[in-house]
Amino acid sequence: MSHQQLLSKIATNDKHGENSPYFDGWKAYDRNPFHSTKNPQGVIQMGLAENQLCFDLIEEWIRNNPKASICTPEGVHQFRDIANFQDYHGLPQFRKGVANFMSKARGGRVKYDPERILMSGGATGANELIMFCLADPGDAFMVPTPYYPAFVRDLGWRTGVQLVPVHCDSSNNFKVTREALEQAYDNAKKSNIDVKGLIITNPSNPLGTTLDEETLKSLVRFINEKNIHLVCDEIYAATVFSAPKFVSVSEVMQEMKCNKELIHIIYSLSKDMGLPGFRVGIVYSYNNDVVSCGRKMSSFGLVSSQTQHFLASLLSDEDFVNKYLETSKKRLAKRHRFFTKGLETVSITCLASNSGLFCWMNLRRLLKEQSFEGEMKLWRVIVDEVKLNVSPGSSFNCSEPGWFRVCFANMDDETVEVALKRIRAFVGRETNDNNNNGKRVEVKRWKSNNNLRLSFNSRRRIKSGYTLPNMYG
Ligand SMILES: Cc1ncc(COP(=O)(O)O)c(C=O)c1O
Repeated sequence: MSHQQLLSKIATNDKHGENSPYFDGWKAYDRNPFHSTKNPQGVIQMGLAENQLCFDLIEEWIRNNPKASICTPEGVHQFRDIANFQDYHGLPQFRKGVANFMSKARGGRVKYDPERILMSGGATGANELIMFCLADPGDAFMVPTPYYPAFVRDLGWRTGVQLVPVHCDSSNNFKVTREALEQAYDNAKKSNIDVKGLIITNPSNPLGTTLDEETLKSLVRFINEKNIHLVCDEIYAATVFSAPKFVSVSEVMQEMKCNKELIHIIYSLSKDMGLPGFRVGIVYSYNNDVVSCGRKMSSFGLVSSQTQHFLASLLSDEDFVNKYLETSKKRLAKRHRFFTKGLETVSITCLASNSGLFCWMNLRRLLKEQSFEGEMKLWRVIVDEVKLNVSPGSSFNCSEPGWFRVCFANMDDETVEVALKRIRAFVGRETNDNNNNGKRVEVKRWKSNNNLRLSFNSRRRIKSGYTLPNMYG
């Protein structure tokens, strides 16, 4: 009997990442979610980069502005207009509000043109949209490691674009060097891969750091020399809570000679405003052709007009936006300080960071073996026994084992304290065990039940053919 493929190659391939073993951490949380009173022994979700620290401000604004919604007695008179609206340019006042917010999120140092704002379903859709505009199936985009795991899905699953890792490491705090860029570019060329661009996240997910101006300029120079695109995912722009300040690619472009048509920004309100459920993603391109074709493509992922209408009001309230951005930074800084100081009490350090909703935690000294297998074993213990869903560095394609991303802004103060308590108890226990007679002892508790599937095949493939491990971040 001949085998007939009933579904498409996209439908049947695995590049969406949801079958990844790393997802078992999320499943462990879903099966047994922590609740301070109803399930105090449950798994705490520290794998989710959500910003829940300023919901109270938005709720207060909603109470004070019932007209902003078409589903209130005060706003219902606009219901018909908004419910009918379906132009893919978006509501003019929405685009204006977003352009203004993008500028404020960058300290007002740059202005954005509402005519260049394209809508999409979150940064997820925006990243895919820009790939559709810039690359053909089989073409490649370079991406410095460690990087946001869902890039594999967002940039490559449906577009057929490949990712070429630019390997960075802790010796220089994961800085993207010209040498690493050249090496990745040359290797791809040798394999006959057509490199169409470089994508970066600035501020970085997972590092929580911002690119310094000089590095950013060197990236702009690099892509100009090679005549390839630069996509800057700046979804965390307003999460920068301490020095050095954030420098956007749109700022450095003003100061240097470069081909603006090669530069594109990805933005979203998922992190800076803490509204991932609203699915507001933005492509901002300096290339007129990309704006024109991207606008047509945005038909596939428009933001609902109800959401646009609401956000147009919210974002045009200057006082609110100023207060929100200021308060959000303060609260993120406080949470970050509290969390990292708590880790320091048991000598756990994180990469020094100034932004993001997470820390890049160094647990190398707790690895039984300095390998990615060792990292996965430690991760299993942390999920299964310490009951914290953190994300292992290998899922970010990190080139060194022992790093973990830990999110700290998706929970309340009490839950952070419980998480810290668990980490301290675990590290204390490990340190005692390891110090016993000066040699490592077998820790019984580490022999966890084998309920997490492991696979290292995908990592091995990285070296040979640029196939990367999958997982959402
Ligand atoms: C760097 C980066 N880009 C894109 C996204 C996707 O964001 P959105 O929820 O707006 O689709 C995320 C979410 O974690 C992210 O960290």
